[in-house]
Amino acid sequence: MAIAHAIGRVLLNISKSPFYAFSQKKKVDTDFNPAVSVTTKLVNGDVRIKVKDNGNGIPQRIADKVFQPFFTTKPTGEGTGLGLSLSYDIIKAHGGEIIVKSNTGDGAEFILKLPA
Ligand SMILES: Nc1ncnc2c1ncn2[C@@H]1O[C@H](COP(=O)(O)OP(=O)(O)O)[C@@H](O)[C@H]1O
Ligand SMILES: [Mg+2]
Repeated sequence: MAIAHAIGRVLLNISKSPFYAFSQKKKVDTDFNPAVSVTTKLVNGDVRIKVKDNGNGIPQRIADKVFQPFFTTKPTGEGTGLGLSLSYDIIKAHGGEIIVKSNTGDGAEFILKLPA
């Protein structure tokens, strides 16, 4: 059984995470249309939730660290660096997995896998 409020918190964190990237991108490109899509599917007995955005993406050397507690690239006072580390722990506790795929400039994609 999933703990609904914990999974809800993960979805909120992950879907909110592009908003800062959007505000940065909008500063240099006023025509930019921010978008976040969430898709779900069942793959080999796993629930897959994919959250994809069209922000600035995450460079590989940063993507390796985003799930670490207190890791943030935001200015002091703006980020806690805890959203993704908490999400990682919640998904792990459910026997699942969370991965990030990103190319700089091309948006980011978070994939959550949970046993059905
Ligand atoms: N969708 C995203 N697009 C670009 N960068 C992201 C995205 N999601 C997370 N990040 C990066 O991961 C870092 C850690 O995220 P998070 O754990 O939510 O902490 P915080 O939001 O407090 O910085 C962010 O500071 C940012 O560098
Ligand atoms: Mg965050």
